Amino acid sequence: MMFIRLRLHLHNKKHSVFGSADDRTSLDYGKRELNILLILRPTINISIIEMLGRCQAFPFRLDEKIPINNHDGSNMNVQEAILSRKSVRAFTDEPVPFETIRKIMEVSQRSPSGTNTQPWHAYVCTGTVKDAITRDVLELVEQGNARKYSDYDYYPNDWKPVHRDRRRGVGWSLYGLLGIEKGDREASARQGKRNFKFFDAPVGLFFTTDAYLGKGSWFDAGMYVQTVMLEARQFGLHTCPQAAWIPYQEPIFKHLGIPDDQVLLTGMAIGYIDDTKIENTLVSEREEVENVVKYAGFD
Ligand SMILES: Cc1cc2nc3c(=O)[nH]c(=O)nc-3n(C[C@H](O)[C@H](O)[C@H](O)COP(=O)(O)O)c2cc1C
Repeated sequence: MMFIRLRLHLHNKKHSVFGSADDRTSLDYGKRELNILLILRPTINISIIEMLGRCQAFPFRLDEKIPINNHDGSNMNVQEAILSRKSVRAFTDEPVPFETIRKIMEVSQRSPSGTNTQPWHAYVCTGTVKDAITRDVLELVEQGNARKYSDYDYYPNDWKPVHRDRRRGVGWSLYGLLGIEKGDREASARQGKRNFKFFDAPVGLFFTTDAYLGKGSWFDAGMYVQTVMLEARQFGLHTCPQAAWIPYQEPIFKHLGIPDDQVLLTGMAIGYIDDTKIENTLVSEREEVENVVKYAGFD
């Protein structure tokens, strides 16, 4: 048994399942069942959800016109790109044309940065180079030879409860979809290792900045990385940013010829979504916007 939080904020009554609920209900989580995207099932009620045993709630208001999961990229506007982006953890083996990647990187180069410092570097790999990185990093994983995130001042060793809970929340949601039980270390490790195969995506990216730069430049580079992910949607591509590579930088630097005065910011898988995989139905939660954004002086 586990608890899934249902937070529905559906602006259109027609789509409302049981009003705007902020509810908790217990669901039988043991079996592989249908994943229900609630907004697509206007008539569904809570007993049916309980019967089917699994659901996901959309954490924000959705514009009816926007297909949230998959959009082929044609005529996509900015809002559609933002709302259809999500972290995809299973890709098809369909190759991504080099010209498409080149275009994404060219457009993304227009990202803003403080005093136009453009403090980012991107390394794009496929084929044998990508395979060599996967092989060597998996070897380090098997040896238990990982650095710490805190070695790179990337993530803290101890998280505040609010952040720890969000981290656990998305992890449990993902593992729940995959049928990985809490405490099943072997299955969790197996899923974790999928990061290092770029979730089977045909192309991998690594983003770095110059090591001497500070938080402001990491902030700039973050905007660049988001621009890449949004521009990828324009071509019907999906992405998964991957901090999982952070503890295993040496082989990445070696195979991509990255100078050692740079530091890794994130890896990223990019390719076409495999719609048949349950992990790609994950819709991550978001904090209520009211708790995050404070307005002043508008009245
Ligand atoms: C910098 C960064 C690093 C991330 N690293 C990983 C990762 O290593 N593996 C993974 O599966 N997801 C990773 N994610 C994806 C996050 O889990 C995801 O963005 C978050 O749960 C929100 O879900 P969404 O991207 O589907 O909206 C990362 C995201 C960011 C922005």
